[in-house]
Amino acid sequence: MKSLFKGGIAAVAILSAFAANADEEADLIINEEIEMTVRTDAPAHVENLSTIYSGWVFRSTETQALQMDDFENPGMIFVDDAIEAWNTAEGAEGQSCAACHGAPEEMAGVRAVYPKWNDAAEEVRTIAMQVNGCRTEQMGAEEWKYDGNEMLNMEALLASVSRGIPVNVAIDGPVQAMWEKGRDLYYTRFGQLDLSCANCHEDNYGNNIRADHLSQGQINAFPTYRLKNAKLNGVQSRFRGCIRDTRAETYAVGSEEFIALELYVASRGNGLSVEGPSVRN
Ligand code: HEC
Ligand code: HEC
Repeated sequence: MKSLFKGGIAAVAILSAFAANADEEADLIINEEIEMTVRTDAPAHVENLSTIYSGWVFRSTETQALQMDDFENPGMIFVDDAIEAWNTAEGAEGQSCAACHGAPEEMAGVRAVYPKWNDAAEEVRTIAMQVNGCRTEQMGAEEWKYDGNEMLNMEALLASVSRGIPVNVAIDGPVQAMWEKGRDLYYTRFGQLDLSCANCHEDNYGNNIRADHLSQGQINAFPTYRLKNAKLNGVQSRFRGCIRDTRAETYAVGSEEFIALELYVASRGNGLSVEGPSVRN
């Protein structure tokens, strides 16, 4: 039954790809219950923006609608898969996530503060790195592939229990050096097109580029279910895609550069709601 449902979603995808531009004034309330902050004052450290917007605001009315109801949101199928994984014992220690952490809802608020500093490991960790830390150090299990299906499913579950909670990533203290590295990358021009993230997502959001309506490139809503490839997409894979579009060589998913960039871009969304799993074109 599940695979039939996924096929149905793909058909919806083809229709939505031709839909009209967004209603930029729309508000996002999920399941008529969870109120999302999709626009708010920019944090002080984002000097060139006065208002920050979720990418949802820039999508077509049809794509926006898919995210307003969990039964319509294809990303929620993967949350169900992750709940199964959450409850399944794996690895040498015979432990499940649930054995230590209880119900997934106990993780409410966690997604909102990642990437964050981990004292024991003395490193900035994305949420994927933390999950793999638990798998290898706590469970004696294999790492999941960075931005692989199992990891993205789990990230979707962890995001879903934080929906509506404002992103609140720390930028000072032990993370400051990584944050500055991420900021430098954000303003670096890449590739034959000689474009930085900022050239598109800061200088030109709201404008159309080819057939696409440019957002601010926020990551509060990841992982995103993209109608284009009919699967969940991770933050750093999205960075790769954007850099490739400038015809540049790009960094690897899980590289120090992308961890720094993820930290910085996450902090540009401080104040927007955690929204994942979201729906995008
Ligand atoms: C044997 C116990 C154990 C198991 C099993 C375990 N964890 Fe953890 N987890 C911990 C501990 C202890 C911490 C906090 C210490 C640290 O930072 O590593 C933690 C931290 C976390 C955090 C970060 C919480 C925060 O507030 O920053 C996440 C997310 C997480 N675990 C997810 C998972 C997932 C997903 C699984 C299953 C794949 C899992 N854990 C399995 C013990 C466990
Ligand atoms: C040539 C213009 C261009 C450049 C340069 C660019 N992007 Fe994008 N980006 C896009 C387009 C087009 C989309 C799809 C529409 C949208 O969401 O803005 C997109 C989407 C995104 C998204 C998804 C947002 C969402 O809500 O789904 C993120 C995140 C993102 N970009 C981050 C970046 C980062 C970080 C950089 C720099 C490494 C970058 N982009 C460089 C054009 C660009």
